Amino acid sequence: MVSAGAGTTDVATAEAVGAAFRQLVGSDPAGVWAAPGRVNLIGEHTDYNDGFVLPFALEQQVVVAAAPRTDGTWRVRSLNRRQTESFGPDDLVPGRVEGWAAYVAGVVWALVEAGHTVEGADLVLGSDVPSGAGLSSSAALECAVLTTLVDLSGLEVAPLDRARLARRCENEYVGAPTGLLDQAASTLCEADNALFLDCRSADTRQVPLDLADAGLELLVLDTKTPHSHVTGEYGDRRRSCEEAAAVLGVPALRDVPVDELDAALERLPDDEMRRRVRHVVTEDARVLEAVAVADAGRPADLAPLLDASHVSMRDDFEITVPTVDLAVETARKAGAHGARMTGGGFGGCIIALVPAGRSDEVGEAVAAAFAEAGHGAPAWFVGRPSAGAR
Ligand code: ADP
Ligand code: GAL
Repeated sequence: MVSAGAGTTDVATAEAVGAAFRQLVGSDPAGVWAAPGRVNLIGEHTDYNDGFVLPFALEQQVVVAAAPRTDGTWRVRSLNRRQTESFGPDDLVPGRVEGWAAYVAGVVWALVEAGHTVEGADLVLGSDVPSGAGLSSSAALECAVLTTLVDLSGLEVAPLDRARLARRCENEYVGAPTGLLDQAASTLCEADNALFLDCRSADTRQVPLDLADAGLELLVLDTKTPHSHVTGEYGDRRRSCEEAAAVLGVPALRDVPVDELDAALERLPDDEMRRRVRHVVTEDARVLEAVAVADAGRPADLAPLLDASHVSMRDDFEITVPTVDLAVETARKAGAHGARMTGGGFGGCIIALVPAGRSDEVGEAVAAAFAEAGHGAPAWFVGRPSAGAR
């Protein structure tokens, strides 16, 4: 099995962050906290359209060792980056702290904006969530830091509110116009389950996902084509969806029923907008179908939904890239029952539903196809539905 972690990945343990904390601060941490990355099984670019998503949390996580500081400032070391950053109360203004530490300062900012008093702290973090691969390393970082600071400061913040505050950090402090998917997954997921989230009502339900019983496993393959949400295409897609909803006179594309899709498409001014809407509306329907087949204990029936989701992202929403398409096609040819890109797109990871024990075979087939096409090597692991922030 190849580890998909970028850079140092043996730092995401309580021992590693604890030892590094003692070296940096000279005393024991008050505790250790963690929050995971996620894969989204299905439901892509539906969250900011008030629609449905079905992620699960990964075993890969951000782990934080921390203790209070008495001077009211925050000092944070990333073992992956081998960097230490500091900030104080004057830096709790969006844009003031940049780079990776913005995800930490933004969490403090969001808590303070919500009226909480946050104690200063020393934090040391390590992660084995690959960064920039569409597995929500940033949400894992936000949610791990948020869980840490909530406990250290003795705050009462309900789980859903934690997810919302972490999202606020991402949207308003870091400046990425993303939905609630990643932070909800990192906060609310439970082991052995996927999380069904209605992004309008924020109602959630755990959906048991027993792939092993069905003789299956979920391969997560990082194409190593990095993506970014702070600028560009992600925001363009979001704007198109909002414009289309305005033309159709609905609050969000979630309000277009799938059986009224054709009539809705006829009212849209151009082909590109029609394709964007068709992706979102059919993707919402696929999430509901995925929940139904998982509920019925038929996870093998997820496969055609994964395939259809990928085609929709490739042809209608246009958020895949050639490496990602090649990975999906090769995985299918190498024995995957179904496969799709996961995450925001323009690179990142694919997931593939494969017969149990065959992830390496499928991963190696993709590696061979990449080598032949002149791409760098992918990395992969088996995704196992794990617990959220703790
Ligand atoms: P994704 O969340 O899909 O991995 P993003 O581009 O949204 O991708 O987030 C990646 C960013 O999160 C990195 O560029 C970095 O700023 C931050 N980040 C993730 N993991 C770490 C880490 N271990 N240490 C410091 N910063 C990290
Ligand atoms: C993510 C983004 C999520 C969601 C997803 C696409 O990376 O953070 O909010 O929109 O892209 O489904």
